[in-house]
Amino acid sequence: MQKRRLKMSAIKEKSLKYNLHSWSAQGNLNPKVITKAEGIYFWDEEGKKYYDMSAQLVNSNLGHGNKAIVNAIKDQAEKIPFIGPGFAIDVRSDAAEAIVEASGLEGAKVFFTNAGAESNENAIKIAKQYTGRWKIFSQYRCYHGSSAGAGMLTGEPRHFANEPGPAGFIKYDGPYAYRAPKACKFETEDDVADFYLELLTNQVKYEGPESVAAIFLETVVGSNGILVPPAKYVTGVRDLCTKYGIMMVCDEVMAGWYRTGTCFAFQNFGIKPDLVTFAKGATCGYVPLGGVIVSEPIAKYFDDHKMMCGLTYSAHPMGCAAAVATINEYKNLNIAENVKKQGKVLGELLEDLNKKHACVGEVRYIGLFSAFELVKDKATKEPIVGFNDDPDGLMAKIVGMLVKEGFWTYSHENMIIVAPPLIITEEELREAMAILDKVLDSVDNMIK
Ligand SMILES: Cc1ncc(COP(=O)(O)O)c(C=O)c1O
Repeated sequence: MQKRRLKMSAIKEKSLKYNLHSWSAQGNLNPKVITKAEGIYFWDEEGKKYYDMSAQLVNSNLGHGNKAIVNAIKDQAEKIPFIGPGFAIDVRSDAAEAIVEASGLEGAKVFFTNAGAESNENAIKIAKQYTGRWKIFSQYRCYHGSSAGAGMLTGEPRHFANEPGPAGFIKYDGPYAYRAPKACKFETEDDVADFYLELLTNQVKYEGPESVAAIFLETVVGSNGILVPPAKYVTGVRDLCTKYGIMMVCDEVMAGWYRTGTCFAFQNFGIKPDLVTFAKGATCGYVPLGGVIVSEPIAKYFDDHKMMCGLTYSAHPMGCAAAVATINEYKNLNIAENVKKQGKVLGELLEDLNKKHACVGEVRYIGLFSAFELVKDKATKEPIVGFNDDPDGLMAKIVGMLVKEGFWTYSHENMIIVAPPLIITEEELREAMAILDKVLDSVDNMIK
């Protein structure tokens, strides 16, 4: 045992010596050394077990160790691990076909990338090429990736390092009723939709619709707090885009692949986007793969116009093989049904937490995609703070308490995200949520 510990600690030491870790000052990091992962759980070097209640970065939709995906990757590695993107191979065509079918966008085609940011980079270029316009709208409260273009789509502070960036990136306010401007008095979801649609419409008019190539939205805003838009808002954005010939781009990198119950989140709202970007759940992260689904008119446009996009690893055989296996598994395991069933349980448990705990301001959920806001006072909605910029703050303590109890999650500002693997059972969900309940009891005491 002693020998094993020493060996594992050496892994951490080496990681700190050689690895740069994302979004962090490097000096004070203490990364967990992970030695095993299975289903909705993973284990650290001490043998401690964690409920993976964020499905890693909301991508491990089928949990850890899915044999069908692993075997598909192994088989592809034996067969053709790599061949240039210009060649046609079985898994390349099969993956694209399965994705187009899942999207319900008849006549659509797929340009494959390696991840979410790259998908958005290419969606920007495709929208610009197709429309001949150059301005790109995206929300303030959103994350679309961290590379040069996708980083400028990102509206929240993670885009600061990309500034000033290229011209033409315009930000707008998307629906967020809980923290809407004080003067807003919304009575219905439609009121919320009307208010935010009016803001966006005015902005588009003042920017000059003839210069606007695309309006991006995370169909359901993910890491910025699971903001489920009113249906009228999504259909309103669709209408606005259609009216002015603007491309509606739904970023489904996080919300896609059954996270919200339907394969793609836009399918909850009965609309058809012009472009859809995806990644994460397409392969559950077993190997990287992302892509852009382009609707039929855009696909046809590129029949006789050169599409100016290309990547050495576009439609990588290993990624495509993993995607085919993953999409089959979603169907074989009837994941849509499980999300519907467990999503209902999760919603009820979250509503109970909201009623019970003084520290919970609002809960938001759709399918197995949920978040709640931690507040010092329900009436004033004053957020609990102290995370990235203040590692000793209250939020950091709360996340630490959850981790200590074996509840692994993803947090942002004053929000805790609950988005487990979509294979979770009711028993597992109730066990994990009981841990959360216990920790929130302590938080109630801390804010008294
Ligand atoms: C909605 C959304 N878009 C894009 C991205 C960027 O994806 P990647 O990290 O794979 O580049 C993310 C990552 O979390 C995301 O949540």
